Amino acid sequence: MLATELGSLSLSNPVLSASGTFGSGWEGRQFSDLGRVGGLVSKTVTLRPRPGNPPPRIVETPSGMLNSIGLENKGVDYFLAETWPRMQQIAADGLAAHGARPRLLINIGGESVDDFVQLAARFSAAGVDALEVNLSCPNVQEGKLLFSTDPRLTEQAVRAVKQVATVPVFAKLSPNVTDVVAIARAAEQGGADGVTAINTLIGMKIDWRKRRPVIARGIGGLSGPAIHPVAVRMVYEIARAVRIPILAAGGARSAEDVLEFVCAGASAVQIGTAMFTDPALMVAIVDDLRQLLTGHGTTIRELRGAALAHPLAPVLACKPAEVAR
Ligand code: SIN
Repeated sequence: MLATELGSLSLSNPVLSASGTFGSGWEGRQFSDLGRVGGLVSKTVTLRPRPGNPPPRIVETPSGMLNSIGLENKGVDYFLAETWPRMQQIAADGLAAHGARPRLLINIGGESVDDFVQLAARFSAAGVDALEVNLSCPNVQEGKLLFSTDPRLTEQAVRAVKQVATVPVFAKLSPNVTDVVAIARAAEQGGADGVTAINTLIGMKIDWRKRRPVIARGIGGLSGPAIHPVAVRMVYEIARAVRIPILAAGGARSAEDVLEFVCAGASAVQIGTAMFTDPALMVAIVDDLRQLLTGHGTTIRELRGAALAHPLAPVLACKPAEVAR
């Protein structure tokens, strides 16, 4: 009933953590049985350690949160030595307890195509379940064009990663574009096994009393319930245009939100910002999903993309007489 697929990757259920909101899972394992979630997505890992952006770099907003972390992490060597074995432990515990384990997706970030390629090779060799290629972090640009704001750069980066990766590759897309469908198509063209949609929307908060932005770097990425309808719209539009699976992300905080994304065409859904206030939320959502699907006699597979079949109302033109008036 809850089972789903992300291309060749089968998941016991469609609930995963969103990158950057739950560490590697290790920190959150005290709050719930993580062996019961469909998957865990790591915080972005880069080739070299990154100190991240200067504080303040996070602020709450109405119905959401702005962050400008700047991909702080200790680099791939540290991750493989210290963090990866812990993620594997969570998966092994899940398998022993439930006969199924969360899939482990590693989110990788780079300043160049070569960074992504090296990371993809290292993590493929380590035996991760899939890679999520972060082409869309809004907080590290330094004047450079973001990979996922340009179809050509997206296709080029994905193609290069696919040449070395031996595991499925998901391209994480930015919503900060005019046409997200063109970027999703470029990822598909480059050979992506799927896309993650969406990363954060660029936003800003100003403290008028201090006459300055609250976030030290001025702007940050907006996440949380405020962006959920935007994410649903983008998943729906992408699902109409590409054949590869979609991993939805953007403000989901309930089983209802997950099923909305699934109807829009998502195969699985990441839970992010909501876990800052309830780190046990993913498992609660899995339980709620089971109850809802049982109650409605349906499954994730049956609901996937269900809304795409619904005809949309046409735009009604003005009647000539009304125009004249
Ligand atoms: C960050 O570390 O700045 C956030 C990561 C992201 O938005 O991709």
